[in-house]
Amino acid sequence: MEYVNLRDRLNFPATLRNRDSIASALSRYIPDRGVILEIASGSGEHAVFFQKRYPSIIWQTSDPQVLHRKSIISWIAHHGLFSMMPQPLDIDVEKRPWPITNELRSLIKGIVCINMIHISPWSCTKALFEESKTFLHQNHFLLLYGPFFRMNNEIPESNLKFDKSLRSQNKLWGLRYLERVNDIAFENGFELDKIIEMPSNNLSVIYRLN
Ligand SMILES: C[S@@+](CC[C@H](N)C(=O)[O-])C[C@H]1O[C@@H](n2cnc3c(N)ncnc32)[C@H](O)[C@@H]1O
Repeated sequence: MEYVNLRDRLNFPATLRNRDSIASALSRYIPDRGVILEIASGSGEHAVFFQKRYPSIIWQTSDPQVLHRKSIISWIAHHGLFSMMPQPLDIDVEKRPWPITNELRSLIKGIVCINMIHISPWSCTKALFEESKTFLHQNHFLLLYGPFFRMNNEIPESNLKFDKSLRSQNKLWGLRYLERVNDIAFENGFELDKIIEMPSNNLSVIYRLN
């Protein structure tokens, strides 16, 4: 085990506000055992919370940023979860194939991706579905969480503002239309299982592989 610095822990304030509602949305999808792969784990605060909430499964984190992976390791250490949680993987959804061993592939039962698709180019959303379908099996789930635009729905002012600020940081970022994300999901063999309205104008959107 490499040296772990507990000061590497990052705090993403939103995780404290949304972790309970995401955990509830996840509850009917968590299998009895197996691995849930989290893409874009960020600080790792969600991961340790979900691992504690669902101790019968293994929460496998990942993130392409070194600072985030250090933070994840540090949160795992802080909660004394090293015996349960593996080290985070360096997964950039666009660098394919993802670095996942055959053994891990055979254990993955679902994928969770929180607050990534609007803070990355659209090509990342496509890559997420294209790569996920290569190792999920029938009925396995992919959960997306975040703010979305929806056709024929009034857009909340807060989401419009958030979209504007994202686009001012990077013109390839921005809130996605749920219907366009669904199209990508369907093209890759997923079906829409459930849309759950979440606090602060966010959604949990759960797909299952056909
Ligand atoms: C807003 S943060 C969300 C982190 C965490 N899921 C949360 O909700 O606190 C966005 C995350 O997406 C990750 N990310 C950005 N581009 C990515 C890519 N191409 N592949 C995988 N993750 C990516 C970033 O490293 C960052 O951790």
